[in-house]
Amino acid sequence: MTVNMSHPLFIAIVSLVILLTAYENREFIFGSSEGNVEFDCSKNSDTLRQFGLSDQPSIKFQDKILHGRFLHITDLHPDGFYKVGSSYDSKCHGKVVKNKSQQNHTASRYGDALSGCDSPIELMQSTLDWVKDNLLDKIDFVVWTGDNVRHDNDRDHPRLESQIFEMNQVVADLIHSTFLTDKDKEDQENVIDNSSRDIKIIPSLGNNDVYPHNMFSPGPTLQIREFYKIWRNFVPEEQLHVFGRGAYFFVEVIKGKLAVLSFNTLYLYTANPLVDNCDSRKQPGYQLFRWLGVVLEEMRKRNMKIWLTGHVPPVPKNYDESCLRKYIIWTHEYRDVIIGGLYGHMNIDHWIPLDSEWAYDSLAAEVFPSESIPSDLYNGFPDLDVKDVDGVSHRYDGVPVGKVRYMNSVREDLYAQIAESNDSGIFSDRYSIAHVSTSVIPTYNPGIRVWEYNITGLVDEGEKRAENQRQPPWSTFFEDLEVEMAKGDEIDEFAFPMTDPSLPVKMPLNTPLGPAYVSQTFSPLRYVQLFANLSAINSGESAFQYELEYTTDDSPYEMNSLLVDDWIKLGRKLGASTDDQCPSQYKSLWKSFLSRAFVQTDYEDTGI
Ligand SMILES: *[C@@H]1O[C@H](CO)[C@@H](O)[C@H](O)[C@H]1NC(C)=O
Ligand SMILES: *[C@@H]1O[C@H](CO)[C@@H](O)[C@H](O)[C@H]1NC(C)=O
Ligand SMILES: *[C@@H]1O[C@H](CO)[C@@H](O)[C@H](O)[C@H]1NC(C)=O
Ligand SMILES: *[C@@H]1O[C@H](CO)[C@@H](O)[C@H](O)[C@H]1NC(C)=O
Ligand SMILES: *[C@@H]1O[C@H](CO)[C@@H](O)[C@H](O)[C@H]1NC(C)=O
Ligand SMILES: *[C@@H]1O[C@H](CO)[C@@H](O)[C@H](O)[C@H]1NC(C)=O
Repeated sequence: MTVNMSHPLFIAIVSLVILLTAYENREFIFGSSEGNVEFDCSKNSDTLRQFGLSDQPSIKFQDKILHGRFLHITDLHPDGFYKVGSSYDSKCHGKVVKNKSQQNHTASRYGDALSGCDSPIELMQSTLDWVKDNLLDKIDFVVWTGDNVRHDNDRDHPRLESQIFEMNQVVADLIHSTFLTDKDKEDQENVIDNSSRDIKIIPSLGNNDVYPHNMFSPGPTLQIREFYKIWRNFVPEEQLHVFGRGAYFFVEVIKGKLAVLSFNTLYLYTANPLVDNCDSRKQPGYQLFRWLGVVLEEMRKRNMKIWLTGHVPPVPKNYDESCLRKYIIWTHEYRDVIIGGLYGHMNIDHWIPLDSEWAYDSLAAEVFPSESIPSDLYNGFPDLDVKDVDGVSHRYDGVPVGKVRYMNSVREDLYAQIAESNDSGIFSDRYSIAHVSTSVIPTYNPGIRVWEYNITGLVDEGEKRAENQRQPPWSTFFEDLEVEMAKGDEIDEFAFPMTDPSLPVKMPLNTPLGPAYVSQTFSPLRYVQLFANLSAINSGESAFQYELEYTTDDSPYEMNSLLVDDWIKLGRKLGASTDDQCPSQYKSLWKSFLSRAFVQTDYEDTGI
């Protein structure tokens, strides 16, 4: 019997299996309610240590137990056509390979690093099961940055729009049930708005979550409406109107204190043929920044802090220059509010220093082209999505190519260019940081990241709650926001750029720097990078599991906190590591940085 795997029925069956498995797991989630397990630290401390997590005490705040931790997971890329035993050449979609001498180029049960194939469903399922069993009771919220569908890399199986929606729905439902807590179970009868869920989840749109991939037009569109439906358990209902403009929104993860913004980066992305820049008023990227501005101003007023999150990171050549500089200028002028940026898409574990001086120079060069200020900082940057050009040793489509070259240019064009400390501003506030996390898809080994942040200041806030409640309700804000956005649609196309509402005014003098720069509540303290060693798991040497890859405070990073200045100091060392005069530790620092970038696959030694 042959099975047509593009048949809707097949997809439906795969979906059903996943849903049934998720259903079975409900027992695990709901079965054991033993009261305040959250406070029983002794019970957890072994697993905490095993995964490199710190044992900072949890606290109770506004009827919620806060652990001071959140999860970042990205790029699941589950592939319903994945077939164990088929060849990498067939994108792991083909017939099972019988010839023994070719079997080390065939699809393993949990996927293979550097094979170029997408994720088997089982990798996604096992990953989320593992997360549920091991992390659910240790985290406060989940940042989930997109690409929940296989790549469009197989001519024999072109992607259909319906399949893309269906798989997104399957993954969204699975994520939803993975992070349901006992508390949600108790509340279930009364749930009227799913944004009241215990562990908030902030999804964002990946370039492969849309049809055709990379292409996304300004809202309102049917596609955006579909995503609102798919994400109904995550997107607050009162943001429906704004969401309709472009699939961006934010979630208050700690009421009145901390929010996470979901950025639709496809409007900034150079590979989206439907958008051009972020300077023209008709562009959805321009509108996105207007929205950002109103939201940031409100956050400042409420003394709230935020994380920016999205799929495609703000890396030169990913974003149009006009979009990149706006992104950087906003983060710079709201450095009292913004904690940092969390992204996926590139699969490579690394981080990007964003230089506000470059951004202002770039803007000035645009406004006064005759004085054209040299902005060579990001020149000579290699193209990011280098396709397979290696005709000598045959590699498979989708295998990363030229990524060591990419990392070398991050080192030379970004890290080595970081200004001396006397020129980086106080607490390095000239810069902000975008973090690019590694993926679940086994481009390298699968990885997930647990961030730890400072929650100490929240302990004795009982009195201040009344003050919070005096803030006008968000519903009023959203109504005003909608009016504001509609008004802006009519502004004169040729007004002087500095009055441009898609650009911020300067941060008011004497505004204290926020948690990104000065240690305080919500400052990131450390993160723990977990990975699945696929060769050990597929060979049966190890059960399916994520294990500790590294933490930011262990050797050789030894970072005491994750403030911008800590990253900038690390960047200076990495940038100096090519210099023979520099301490020899810098070279080994770069070596660890590279092996972490490629998640312990030794990709950097393969020469591809
Ligand atoms: C098995 O694969 C090897 C290497 O590709 C090839 O040389 C050999 O002819 C194949 N054997 C059969 C029986 O096809
Ligand atoms: C595949 O396995 C054979 C023998 O098991 C080995 O000689 C060969 O080097 C392997 N090829 C690759 C690319 O790993
Ligand atoms: C809340 O979640 C449930 C279960 O997934 C769903 O049926 C319902 O439509 C959601 N409610 C809202 C208001 O989005
Ligand atoms: C920064 O300090 C270095 C020495 O540490 C000095 O050589 C350089 O001139 C200083 N730069 C500025 C702009 O003051
Ligand atoms: C956390 O923030 C508080 C201020 O709110 C500060 O006193 C404390 O040192 C910070 N903790 C750490 C571990 O940095
Ligand atoms: C992954 O597993 C393989 C096979 O067991 C082992 O040789 C390798 O050292 C492991 N890698 C890491 C980084 O632990």
